[in-house]
Formats: sequence, structure tokens, C-alpha cells
Amino acid sequence: MVRVTFLGHAAVLLEGQTTLIIDPFLTGNPMASVGPEAVQPDLIVLTHAHGDHWGDTLALAGKGATVVSTYEIAVYAEKHGAQAFAMNIGGRYAFPGGWLKFYPAWHSSSFPDGSYGGMPMGVVIEMDGRKIYHAGDTALFSDMRLIGEEGLDLALLPIGDTFTMGPDDALAALELLRPKRVVPIHYNTFPVIEQDGGAFAVRAAKLGVEGLALEPGEAVEL
Ligand code: NI
Ligand code: MN
Repeated sequence: MVRVTFLGHAAVLLEGQTTLIIDPFLTGNPMASVGPEAVQPDLIVLTHAHGDHWGDTLALAGKGATVVSTYEIAVYAEKHGAQAFAMNIGGRYAFPGGWLKFYPAWHSSSFPDGSYGGMPMGVVIEMDGRKIYHAGDTALFSDMRLIGEEGLDLALLPIGDTFTMGPDDALAALELLRPKRVVPIHYNTFPVIEQDGGAFAVRAAKLGVEGLALEPGEAVEL
């Protein structure tokens, strides 16, 4: 069993045999349900380097977590004293209880200080027999059909619009990904990405996908 907790914005905690946090933007995130002191991950998975994803990476790495991301993000993290494992799109990384694999995302990726962060990514994570896709920040793209061939138990999709897919494109993404469940993310954190997560969940259900508009701090067990 894997427990998936939405921490606000694009930050998600996965707890199974391994504890893994994706895009840990907690400090300064007006939607964050907890601060970095409340989580103790083994792995920090970063989809890209933007400040609303990189977030508390160094603080969590300082508590013993390993950063897993692009070559550019891993090198940057190591330069700042973190332990990191460098990868790139298409690569797979194994950990106790599962593995993860990076897929493309259509976006950009630079650190808050302007350093280049490599290519932005999405990630499929299998843990304890469940498959979860975190799309990162991305536009809709037709190769999501290939990601769907993984057989997804859950998709975490941005719906905020402006910087990523909006709700209409995220629904089109569901047609390609065909997950069992979807959790909308990357919305309502700031005024420019205000959306109705509940309405999105209802529309997802009409496509045969269970929509779960989790409040920050809420979890789903798979
Ligand atoms: Ni971004
Ligand atoms: Mn973002």
C-alpha cells in the first residue's frame, strides 16, 4: 500500500517502503499543509528547478534525503552540499519497494538564481505495486499516450493554466493517460492559477476517471 499526501501546489508525499517527496515547495507556499520540519523523506524527486518546485530541497537534503533529478539539478544540489543522483529523461532509478522513470514535460527549467536546470520532466513512480504519474509542469502533449501504457493507478496533473495545462487540456490528458484516479495539482496557490478543483473532479468522473480534489494535507491510499 502507498499513501499519497497532497501537500499543496505540486508538492506530494509518497509513503510506502520508501518515503519520497516530489517538488517540496513548502516554505513560502501559501497552500502548504506542513513545513519542511514535518517531513522526513528518503528521496527528493524534482521535476524541474523553478522555485515553486525546488522549494525546501536543501533543508530536506540536510536531514539525509537524496535528490534524484536531472544532471543539472543534481550537480547544483551537490554544489550546495546535498547528496544527489543525476539522471535524465528516459532513465530509471530503483529504490526499496519500487522504481521511478522520468518522462518529458513541455515547460522550462531554471533555478531562482537564473542557473540552468536542464530539461523539465514528469515522472512515473512504481511503489509497492502501484503506479503514480506526476506530470510536473507541462502543456498537453500527445506522447502522454505512451505514459498511459505504463498502466497508471493515479495521475497528478496540473490544472492551473497560465504556466501549465488548464482544466480543459488536463481532461484531454486523461483521455491519453487513462489512469484509474486523478488528483489536480498546481492550482489556487496564486491568483493567476485559480481553478475549481471540485468541478475538474466531476468532469474527470464523466470520462470514467475517479477525480479526487484533495485539500492540502489530505491523502489517498492506493
Ligand atoms: Ni515551473
Ligand atoms: Mn510550477
